Amino acid sequence: MNKKILVTGGLGFIGSHTVVALQERGFDVVIIDNLSNSSIEVLGGITKITRISPEFENLDLRDKQSVNNFFEKYQDIDGVIHFAASKAVGESVQNPLLYYENNLNSLIYLLQQLKEKEAPKFIFSSSCTVYGQADELPITENAPVKKAESPYGNTKQIGEEIIFDTCSAVPHLKAISLRYFNPIGAHHSANIGELPIGTPQNLVPYITQTAAGKREQLSIFGNDYPTPDGTCIRDYIHVMDLARAHVIALERLLDNEQENNYEVFNLGTGKGNSVLEAVQAFEKVSGKKLPYTFVDRREGDIVAAYADTTKANRVLNWTAEFNIEDAMESAWKWQQKLEEKN
Ligand code: WQD
Repeated sequence: MNKKILVTGGLGFIGSHTVVALQERGFDVVIIDNLSNSSIEVLGGITKITRISPEFENLDLRDKQSVNNFFEKYQDIDGVIHFAASKAVGESVQNPLLYYENNLNSLIYLLQQLKEKEAPKFIFSSSCTVYGQADELPITENAPVKKAESPYGNTKQIGEEIIFDTCSAVPHLKAISLRYFNPIGAHHSANIGELPIGTPQNLVPYITQTAAGKREQLSIFGNDYPTPDGTCIRDYIHVMDLARAHVIALERLLDNEQENNYEVFNLGTGKGNSVLEAVQAFEKVSGKKLPYTFVDRREGDIVAAYADTTKANRVLNWTAEFNIEDAMESAWKWQQKLEEKN
């Protein structure tokens, strides 16, 4: 009998790629998604890849009764991977209460259900944003959590604290928080990928939309930073490496391999690339010259962040296998597929 995993936000960017990895590993998957930042077409994309259509429930995790009803209906959930959250940094500054309600109430309602189960396993989608501008690079899991630069980042910090305190009070709840650096790319089949709604906030979808002629040029937010080429440095990790890490972390929980019932891992490549290097990587794999211009810095951007991945390498026996060129190639293939559809 296959173990059954709930993936909240499973039609989103990282969620959908993780659903594929879970199904390919033999897990049965139930997706909860309220389609506020995703499309039902993603379900078809997943099924095209794995030939298995996940169960899908269109419900809003902010509705406590809906969450309770879900767990009444699905008594056989063996683990939960929780992606569902609002994640636009800028929007969170404009509308903090939307972010606190959506990102924290959903988490609380899920944990209230899980703690009643016999052997609950929980994986939380966290972010390197909890570190702010770290004092030391590369960033380890012991780096101090700094005051969040945005309500979005704060919901990740508070979320981790809620899980930590709940695990302390509920010893049979086993949890892992995964702190992603910058997820980019798409499944190599180009059947699923990043689907930003409206103008992309993130770098890579903006690059691919510019290369596809949907945007006039890329605006690079600042080239006067204290870095070798003046542009910010990030750790760009292929979304399929990220998906694989979630399956490995889940199996660690299911196999009860943890020393204690709450752990945190950084997920990155361990390599930093500047915005200009990211553009150059894209140009190399696409053969396209990318039009860009330098503009003012973006409020809230940190100068540099890249992961110390020693802990995930050693404890999870996981290492990112793709580099930034692989990720850019998959992102471009996905964008071209989207253009064919439109
Ligand atoms: C990367 C770099 C920009 C767009 C955020 C969140 C993080 C996670 C990923 C949700 C920066 C530059 C970008 C553009 C640019 N979000 N840039 N022109 O800000 O590192 O991380 O998104 O999980 O939690 O903090 O990612 O892709 O927005 O920016 O020059 O049009 O690209 O200044 O240096 P970021 P990003």
